[in-house]
Amino acid sequence: MQYKCLGNSDIFASRIALGAWAIGGWMWGGQDDEDSIRTIHAAIDAGINFIDTAPMYGMGHSETVVGKAIADRPRDGLVIATKCGMRWDLEQPAGRAFFRTDDDSITDDGKYQVYIYNAPESIRYEVEQSLKRLNTDYIDLLQTHWQEQTTPLEDTLKVLNDLRDEGKIRAFGPCNATPEQLAQYADTGAVTDQEKYSLLDRGPEGELLPICREKNVAFLAYSPLANGLLTGKIGPDRVFPKDDLRAQRARFSVESRQLVQDALRKIQPIADGHDCTLAQLIIAWTLAQPGVTHPLIGARNIQQAQENAAAADLALSEDELRQIDDACGDLAENIGGSGPPVKS
Ligand SMILES: NC(=O)c1ccc[n+]([C@@H]2O[C@H](COP(=O)([O-])OP(=O)(O)OC[C@H]3O[C@@H](n4cnc5c(N)ncnc54)[C@H](OP(=O)(O)O)[C@@H]3O)[C@@H](O)[C@H]2O)c1
Repeated sequence: MQYKCLGNSDIFASRIALGAWAIGGWMWGGQDDEDSIRTIHAAIDAGINFIDTAPMYGMGHSETVVGKAIADRPRDGLVIATKCGMRWDLEQPAGRAFFRTDDDSITDDGKYQVYIYNAPESIRYEVEQSLKRLNTDYIDLLQTHWQEQTTPLEDTLKVLNDLRDEGKIRAFGPCNATPEQLAQYADTGAVTDQEKYSLLDRGPEGELLPICREKNVAFLAYSPLANGLLTGKIGPDRVFPKDDLRAQRARFSVESRQLVQDALRKIQPIADGHDCTLAQLIIAWTLAQPGVTHPLIGARNIQQAQENAAAADLALSEDELRQIDDACGDLAENIGGSGPPVKS
């Protein structure tokens, strides 16, 4: 495993992080908690010390499962990242209305209205809830899950700096930021930025990644396997439960899956040459992109956790990286987007 500090902090985090969204079950067709705990343990045993979760992932469930899994592991060896600013439990509307959801998936008539809300008192409340669920007395990295306009960013940044000075969190950063927001975060103490980035989602290469490189901000790439699509394991026959986000996304149509499989077939010889899986090849490609410091990779079982961790040791040549770009370069334009409206 390779490790790298988060920006200019002293938080030494494995370059492969375990993403714990699916572990919450919500939007992923459910997930068995015992499998999740075994997955987290396998990831830690394979050298992953960096785990990314969020209150929204199962309305607290992912955090609770992570808390149980880490209870018997030395806390100071772990980097626990969670988020704030997605509220499904507000009594009054506040911030930006985002979507409705029920316990399993996003739906127009869901019982919860989710708001993006980054007001200081709300963030303080959420941190206390997360600490209880994670069963810990500090959070290594607190991230605003989405951005909103009703709270001045200065106010959000002040409370994040205060929480760090009080020792409740060790560091903070945004997710899903505009370049302007990212620059303001970085100039006011943020050490990370978390954005969707994969071979199919290369938008951050335009402005966000250059800002991260210039300001020494760690870039945490989310959904680097495009929710599993880039593993080569999602063929035309796989049927997703209706509360699995992939059941509805255009990108997972049978036609798109076929196009992705065709592209991946072209790079299979590179994987064969390294005696690795396609998922590992894609992770190694992600790690090699300029400025991408920590891909966050979701895993649901021991085998995926071990396989994904091992990809950190894979080095690809410039020529191999170019061949992967060439084979998959126009895929993003030819397959559907990763919407609809739902963003985790
Ligand atoms: N900040 C944000 O707004 C935001 C948004 C999205 C994600 N994230 C973070 O980023 C993390 C990763 O993103 P993600 O979970 O969307 O997707 P991902 O990492 O692109 O894909 C994860 C999925 O791919 C499959 N998979 C993983 N490893 C595999 C392997 N070795 N072989 C075959 N299949 C494999 C698993 O699903 P199956 O086994 O079911 O196929 C797994 O749940 C999340 O967990 C979360 O922490 C953050």
